[in-house]
Formats: sequence, C-alpha cells, structure tokens
Amino acid sequence: MTTDVLDELKASNLTPLIGSAIHLDKAALLSGEHASGIRELLERRGVLVFPKIGFSDEEQVAFTKTLGEFAAERGDGENIHKISLDPKVNAMSAEYLKGSLYWHIDGTMSQIPILASLLSGKVLSPSGGDTQFSNTYAAWTELPEEDKQQLEGLRAAHGAWPTLFYYDPEPSLAMTEQMMSIGEQELPLVWKHRSGRKSLVIGATAHRVIGMEARNSTALLVRLREWATQPRFVYTHKWTVGDLVIWDNTGTMHRATPYDPNSGRLMHRTKLRGEEAFA
Ligand code: OGA
Ligand code: MN
Repeated sequence: MTTDVLDELKASNLTPLIGSAIHLDKAALLSGEHASGIRELLERRGVLVFPKIGFSDEEQVAFTKTLGEFAAERGDGENIHKISLDPKVNAMSAEYLKGSLYWHIDGTMSQIPILASLLSGKVLSPSGGDTQFSNTYAAWTELPEEDKQQLEGLRAAHGAWPTLFYYDPEPSLAMTEQMMSIGEQELPLVWKHRSGRKSLVIGATAHRVIGMEARNSTALLVRLREWATQPRFVYTHKWTVGDLVIWDNTGTMHRATPYDPNSGRLMHRTKLRGEEAFA
C-alpha cells in the first residue's frame, strides 16, 4: 500500500494487520472524489472506520453509492436496513440476527457474496455490542505451509441453519426447516481471488467439510476459527454514536459481542453488491 492513499484519506492504521480510521469530512466523502482510494484501502485493511461521521440515512445511501453498486436488502425493499435484536424493531430479522453474535461472513448462501457492508451506530447498548472483525487474508497468509497444502482443494457446506444451533440448541422442526429453506451451498475453504490473494472462507455458516469424517471436519473448522480469530488478526470496534464502519466482506469475518436484545442497540446498514464469486 502506498502511503499516498493513507495521506489522501487522512487515514491511520488501527492495528498492524486490520483496520484503518479515515478522518475526511462528510463533504469530502460525499463528493465521491476519494472513492477509489477508499476501495483500495478497504481491500488492503479489511475494515474502515469513519469516527463520528454522523451520516443521516440519505447521506449513508449516497455515500454507499459512491463506492460501488448499491445492494438492496433481501425482502424489505427499504434502502436502510435496521440491525436490532429487538423483534419490535425488526421482526423479520431479529431471529436471524441472533446468528450475528458468532463469527461469520455475510451471504455465504449466495455465489457472489456482498462486497461490503456499511454500518452506522445509532443507539448503543450500555454494555457489550462491540463489533469484531478478523482478517481472513492475513489468517491464510500466516498459516504454516503444511496447513496450506492440506486446505487447498477442500470444500465446506454452508447454510444459515447451522447458525441456528449456536443460539437455540433444541429448535422446533418448523424453525429448522425455515432456516434450511434459506439455502445451502458448497464453498472452497480457500478463496482464490481474481487479485491473486487468498483468504479463508469459514465461520458459523460452515458446518461440514466435504468428504471428511464428522469429528475431523468439526475439529478442522474449530481449529481454523480459533486460528483466524487470534488477537493479531482481529480489530474490535467499540462504538460511539455516529460512527460508520465498512468491512470488506470478502476478506474478513465478523461478529457482534453479546448484548441485551432490549438494550435498544440499533445500527443502520447498507450494502455494496458483490463483484466476485467464491472461487
Ligand atoms: C451484520 C452484522 C454485527 C453487529 O450487520 O451483518 O453481523 O455488530 N452486524 O451488529
Ligand atoms: Mn453479519
């Protein structure tokens, strides 16, 4: 990465391996002038933080559109998607979002997952409710050579339903079937991006390594999650109201730390359409 991009964006790195903060003002961000620099830094650093930028919904949508193709949220037809565990705020997704407390990549049920999500902090929980990100490019790069050789070519089955068992160990059949209806697909454990870089594709949606006996499959997935979420690969965002955080969903996984569903915690999310299939 050239220092020019950091200078151009008035950016500073938040940890050595993941996360940068950008200190441009609203007008500069909304002008679209820095869009390619932001995209470059996002791919390099996985997570970009715009501290207390305080975008309105309209501004968040407009800023999202400067960075790529806007992806409407499944089902709700609105431009801004409310992220809340409170069913009164978002009945449809409160159940599904319980899975957001466990390490995951968004959209592993799509062949082309979303490129990025943008999350604005609107109401915070008095305790918990941080968002954590792991750099799955760096986690791959630093694996020992023999692990890399073992992993190349392996595939895992992903679905929304495996995440159900993280928060509801004895779900009803109706709920299980509802989650299963969201879909399932096999993905490579190692994503070979067009850029030539590689990243791990793991997280709570991955429940079975294809062709591997159950114990070995589970042990491998747990080992990779433990590896990729070591502190040096992780950035933890402690929210202030008005912060905007963008993550590269193709090179990171993320989770919220536990918080009370009645805390009022509310985030406003927009997304960028994916540009590259898992490969
Ligand atoms: C998401 C998500 C985490 C959070 O919006 O996809 O996982 O901290 N959010 O709310
Ligand atoms: Mn998510």
